[in-house]
Amino acid sequence: MLEIVKEATRACNAVDSQPWHFVITDTDEGKQKLESYMWPVDRGRIENSSASVLVFADKDWFAHIDEVFNKSFQENGWTEERLYFMNKITSDWGMDLSDGELEDSVIFQAGLVTMQFILCARAHGYDTGPMAAFTRQGVAEEFGLDGNRFIPCLVVAVGKATAPAEPVSRREPQEVTTFA
Ligand SMILES: Cc1cc2nc3c(=O)[nH]c(=O)nc-3n(C[C@H](O)[C@H](O)[C@H](O)COP(=O)(O)O)c2cc1C
Repeated sequence: MLEIVKEATRACNAVDSQPWHFVITDTDEGKQKLESYMWPVDRGRIENSSASVLVFADKDWFAHIDEVFNKSFQENGWTEERLYFMNKITSDWGMDLSDGELEDSVIFQAGLVTMQFILCARAHGYDTGPMAAFTRQGVAEEFGLDGNRFIPCLVVAVGKATAPAEPVSRREPQEVTTFA
């Protein structure tokens, strides 16, 4: 699971903010806890899968960005100028964001990392089931996270499929694309 998380977290993101956190439920106790938050439509899916991942968006990435930049400074040969530049654009951008824009931004990026998690799990031979039908209220605290900081986004069940996926049709590319 950590290998998949490692690969998933190569996902593109704004200024290396990496505004996400994963809770992986792979114990009976963890699964039961998460199961109790699922709506009836998705009941049983946590207990019946090998593990599940609850993806959170992190609203407080800004407070920890200097650790990320310092790591890049040390490990990736950043120059002093680049370090200064990254800190400056990040703080300028951070100050300009309203609360709503910050939430939109981190939830969007949590979506990117979630899709990448799904694709990486597939590359490792696992099937996944993304589920939005769960109660948000209190779920961060249930797993020891600060609910004011972490926004619950999606639950992804991970394991081996017991049946083939239902076939679906997609809208044509021309219907969803405008050339200008
Ligand atoms: C954001 C999101 C939320 C979803 N929520 C649920 C859900 O709560 N319950 C469910 O059975 N499937 C849910 N799905 C799964 C889809 O219905 C579908 O099974 C999945 O995306 C893979 O199949 P597809 O290729 O048809 O999209 C969700 C998918 C996404 C991307």
